[in-house]
Amino acid sequence: MTKPRVFVTRVIPDEGLDPVREACEVDLWTEELPPPRDELLRRVAGVDGLLSLLTDAVDDELLDAAGAQLKVVSNFAVGFDNIDVEACTRRRIPAGNTPGVLTETTADLAFALLMSAARRIPEGVDHVRDGRWLTWGPMLLMGVDVHGATLGIVGFGRIGREMARRARGFGMRILYQDVHPATAEDEAELGARRVEMDELLSESDFISLHVNLTDETHHLIDADALRAMKPTAVLVNTSRGPVVDPDALESALRGGEIFAAGLDVTDPEPLSSDHPLVALPNCIVVPHIASASRVTRGKMAAMAAANLLSGVRGERLPTPINPEVYG
Ligand code: DGY
Repeated sequence: MTKPRVFVTRVIPDEGLDPVREACEVDLWTEELPPPRDELLRRVAGVDGLLSLLTDAVDDELLDAAGAQLKVVSNFAVGFDNIDVEACTRRRIPAGNTPGVLTETTADLAFALLMSAARRIPEGVDHVRDGRWLTWGPMLLMGVDVHGATLGIVGFGRIGREMARRARGFGMRILYQDVHPATAEDEAELGARRVEMDELLSESDFISLHVNLTDETHHLIDADALRAMKPTAVLVNTSRGPVVDPDALESALRGGEIFAAGLDVTDPEPLSSDHPLVALPNCIVVPHIASASRVTRGKMAAMAAANLLSGVRGERLPTPINPEVYG
């Protein structure tokens, strides 16, 4: 029996590649950078399944280039703003993502950014590396306290709630904003209170973003939102870069409208090393690594493979983004 043909757009951990290699004829993109658009369109032609990354735009053009035999798009990420879900659904192609397995790891990194920005850790490291550590300084690198502070969580889904769990350990007061209120039991367990966005912005010492990128959340944190924050506030973004207006953030950080920012995601991505945000001492930028622990990336790979293999076999995906294709 001929094996299904699949295109895998980057090398992923063996937990995903091994089962896919066993069951499919695999075309694997082995370069460090994503396939350029024309190459991607060429390589998907005639495949039964596509294992994509958040750097690959899956839209009408790509689905047309793939052809009518395409049975599944499996995204190696929980976020899927790179996928035109409606275009997949119109063609009755199930698309899958990797929810759940990266929740804690992502919250860990968000909390690490929060603490690093609050206590100016990268600046301290540079201070030592540059040979500027000459004595104990009573005024040296003073930051803001994390313990007992108020954390505002924007987007109270799986990752936002894990952030709340971590914050509780630091005795923080937790406010949140989400279109869907948590249950009274969840609010009590997490010690969290739902407030309007205005209150969250003005009351929080730390604001951590955990929303999906949609038309509604694009530039949710703009100049007005930044102006509404405390001058001592720290903004953390591990969601998607375009949720924050980068120009507004730069001017807020430069002008002292907020204290600091910790960014795992940026707009654009990647951010070039000469981007003004990179040069600001009160802005920490890391290269979209929130889910990058060895174990978690292995689980994401296994889950992406399970979606891909179910799709090429015509079975229901374990974690479909568009379950309506089965209706
Ligand atoms: C995701 O999964 O959406 C992250 O951004 C990468 O792990």
